[in-house]
Amino acid sequence: MCGIVGYIGKKDTTKFILEGLRELEYRGYDSAGMALLNDEKIDVFKALGKLVNLEDKIKKATLGDYTLGIGHTRWATHGKPTELNAHPHLGEYSYVVHNGIIENYKEIKDELIEKGVKFISQTDTEVIVHLFENYNNKINDTAQAFKNTISRLKGAFSILLISKAAPNKIFFFKNGSPLIVARGKEEGEVMFASSDAPLIGLADDVVYLEDQVGGIASASSIEFLNDNYSWSRLPTSKQFAQKDGFRFFMEKEIYEQSDVVSDCMIGRLKDKEINFDEIDSSILEGIKEIKICACGTSFHAAITSSYLFERLSKIKCNVEVASEFRYKDPLLTKDTLFVVISQSGETADTLEALKMAKKAGLKSLVICNVNNSSMTRLADYTILTRAGIEKGVASTKAFSTQTVVLWMLSLYFAKIKGSIDEQTLQKELKALREVPKTLIVESKLHEKCRRLSKRYLHGHGFFFIGRDVFYPLALEGALKLKEISYLHAEGYPAGEMKHGPIALADPELFTIALMPENMLYDKIKSNVEELSARDSTICTISPLDFELSDDFIKTQKLEHYMLEFFEMLVVLQLLSMEISIRLGNDVDMPRNLAKSVTVE
Ligand code: F6R
Repeated sequence: MCGIVGYIGKKDTTKFILEGLRELEYRGYDSAGMALLNDEKIDVFKALGKLVNLEDKIKKATLGDYTLGIGHTRWATHGKPTELNAHPHLGEYSYVVHNGIIENYKEIKDELIEKGVKFISQTDTEVIVHLFENYNNKINDTAQAFKNTISRLKGAFSILLISKAAPNKIFFFKNGSPLIVARGKEEGEVMFASSDAPLIGLADDVVYLEDQVGGIASASSIEFLNDNYSWSRLPTSKQFAQKDGFRFFMEKEIYEQSDVVSDCMIGRLKDKEINFDEIDSSILEGIKEIKICACGTSFHAAITSSYLFERLSKIKCNVEVASEFRYKDPLLTKDTLFVVISQSGETADTLEALKMAKKAGLKSLVICNVNNSSMTRLADYTILTRAGIEKGVASTKAFSTQTVVLWMLSLYFAKIKGSIDEQTLQKELKALREVPKTLIVESKLHEKCRRLSKRYLHGHGFFFIGRDVFYPLALEGALKLKEISYLHAEGYPAGEMKHGPIALADPELFTIALMPENMLYDKIKSNVEELSARDSTICTISPLDFELSDDFIKTQKLEHYMLEFFEMLVVLQLLSMEISIRLGNDVDMPRNLAKSVTVE
């Protein structure tokens, strides 16, 4: 969602805040802003849209010698993306930046309005700063006023607050949304950020704040409001993703998939078996079933894996969208291994599902790309996907690494359960070794997608269809297209088309058909023939020629359906990116989206 940063120290505060926000901009880019303190004077800069607009404003301003500052990049929840609704929000003499949602803001707002407080924005955030000042005006004690304020707030939020009434301090609090406090490398430096990326290289020691932990920081001390915190070392390798000559991070990340999938297999894919140092066979003791919760692209990886857990491990597996799961009063039994999948490890709905499973006493495992994220700190077991920082808002390499981890895991479980014979296991391992090669982007293939993209800019919609694991792949293809091209697209199980959607078929309906050689080829062929007979425009992705296609993307002949899966994944990613580019969209920062969804 939103990104927040804060700084106390002698360095150029404006520069720290701007660079920090640049690292976090992928979390939201509806607006950005910062409040900077110089003695008892606070300067505020805000701009609508991307961070570059804020930078332009700052370039034109006369800046002071600031010793402290807070900054924010926004993905709008309450209130439209306008400059007035941009953070920091101000009271009479204090400013706040906030990530998350204050659920009871309406009640607090009404109460404050009755007391004569004037609100200028439509956000939930503004209540925080007014509530703080309301308390402070009464008791003239900023620390106590801050404590009173947070004790009134309900929801998921991380907060940084500064005030002329306590000019050398940053008040901070975390509940639900992520927040990190760091000691900078220089004497008297304190830093804050909602992920560790802005801090790497600048700080060594950090506290990844737990929920319900906050405090007050100044150049001389960081006081925590309770003892529930511990310092840890910040990773030193600064894997800041630069575009390396690619046009977009998404493109770079598509091309990186072959390498990151290799990294993800190191030490896990052995000569004759699969090994995970992070878990052992006791993980399956007493387990009869696997339940997986996730959102978006991670949900598609989850559905893919449900075929593999049942087919290979012979363990019953069901998958649920986390936002549905959390409110359905699910029946949870201790013979279920609860798995969550998340690139960020911070998605609010998935995190809440994990908390529910923990509370019910289930064993839990997270498949995640971000170590030290809320989910990895909470789950009993963690398997990291090792994809490196993913910056493109449209997830690519996170999905391929998640799917590879899950495939390996299904084989690891199969071996523990004795549900796979040696010959089949070796066949699967051989195929796994081929995945990185399959993910290499051939220039001819990319060029083909680029050329084809111009034919698919108009029409009244897309159906992506597939069967078995190619059904969740179809869902992922449709999601990629809609999120960056803003064209309507739907993923569908190919066999379901005749139960309703085929009524839409006409030349303006584009069907992207996934026709792998090694999985139900004849079945899907019949489904596509049915669509072709109704004049739908068909683009086939297959290694086998298919005369009814209007367009054809020929894939390699591969021995295993999962290898075909990964090759088709690259085709779908490239095709949606090229369509988006042709439409003139910002591929890395599609409208209305944010990289990490830390509100429900
Ligand atoms: C789509 C995309 C989202 C995320 C979803 C879950 O390209 O990136 O659908 O997959 O918001 O995020 P994580 O995996 O961080 O829990």
